[in-house]
Amino acid sequence: MPGVEHVNRYLTLEDVDVEGKDVLVRSDLNVPIDDGLVGDDFRIRSALPTLERLVHAGARVSVCSHLGRPKGADLSLSLEPVARRMGDLTDVDVAFDGPGDIRVFENTRFSEGETSNDPATSEQLANDFDLFVQDAFGSVHRAHASTVGVAERVQSVAGPLLDNELKAFDRFLTDPGRPYTVVLGGAKISDKLGVIDNLLPKVDRMLIGGGMCFTFLKARGHEVGGSIVQEEMVEAVAGLLDGPNGRKIILPVDIAVGDEFDEDTTRTVVGASEIPAGSIGLDIGPSTAAGFRELIESSASVFWNGPMGVFEWERFRRGTDLIARALAACQGFTAVGGGDSAAALRLLGLDDTVSHLSTGGGAGLELLEGKILPGVAVLERWVQ
Ligand code: 3PG
Ligand code: MG
Repeated sequence: MPGVEHVNRYLTLEDVDVEGKDVLVRSDLNVPIDDGLVGDDFRIRSALPTLERLVHAGARVSVCSHLGRPKGADLSLSLEPVARRMGDLTDVDVAFDGPGDIRVFENTRFSEGETSNDPATSEQLANDFDLFVQDAFGSVHRAHASTVGVAERVQSVAGPLLDNELKAFDRFLTDPGRPYTVVLGGAKISDKLGVIDNLLPKVDRMLIGGGMCFTFLKARGHEVGGSIVQEEMVEAVAGLLDGPNGRKIILPVDIAVGDEFDEDTTRTVVGASEIPAGSIGLDIGPSTAAGFRELIESSASVFWNGPMGVFEWERFRRGTDLIARALAACQGFTAVGGGDSAAALRLLGLDDTVSHLSTGGGAGLELLEGKILPGVAVLERWVQ
């Protein structure tokens, strides 16, 4: 992996002796919590092997993570249910905020100094530990106390999950097989406009579906009825479409619409330039899905982030379903990031079919843009 060694220089668990040491692991345990219960536990299951390995190697293990975006302490975002689920998934003893084989700390974002990367907060976090293991791939694009500050203060290495993710993404960064296709969906274009702008020159095609496609259709001058549009972004998107790489952007040609934003609304397919005034776009249409499918299957590398429609609703799942199947059928290198796309794959029983299923959302996208992620960059100082 020459690219990884070039861009990211860090030590790993292979380079250190952990026996008898107090080790703090930063995992990304930011999972959906519904009524105090863990929903999708993919990130917890992904974090566990590193923690178990450290326990079996004789370390005293503590793990910290953020959960959600609380403003101060908010018990609905406690890591207690996460610790409980972790305990259900492993044979080692897991304790929430108390001594155990694995000690799970409370939500790092309950402390104000976390997101501001406050020195005192970082100091406090680092204080009792001999070693810091950064394993939270999904969070290393944040320069917070638990991702950067702590790693400036105690010897730090990259954990196996982080290392594995960086190596997988390196395929896209150093020498992506071509055609290289990125498929983007999800609702919010404001989160992804910068990514699209930076990624377009690097890719061969960018397929746009999901809620964000309506801002693109609007920018093309189409009426989109009652579909979700981020008005303040329309001008910037028009600039992208008219820009030097605008022809790489592939938009839907048809849309599955409903009369209201409701699971049971009637599903009708209309042309993407003919969405009726009273209709709401809820999925890409069948012609779009077929076209996207061909482009995906004929690609040598594909990255997918964000569902094509409201995939939680059976009637509006087809677009996402077809994209997932196209990735499964693609012979090239395929990676999927973002909680919703990963959840869609699992819902369809296709999570084993892609080359790399990432635990990251925004972190993966920022990496693909060519950005240096602060939580990775900080590890370099421990390399002799
Ligand atoms: C994620 O879910 O994308 C990561 O855990 C980061 O969360 P954040 O966007 O709230 O920083
Ligand atoms: Mg996020």
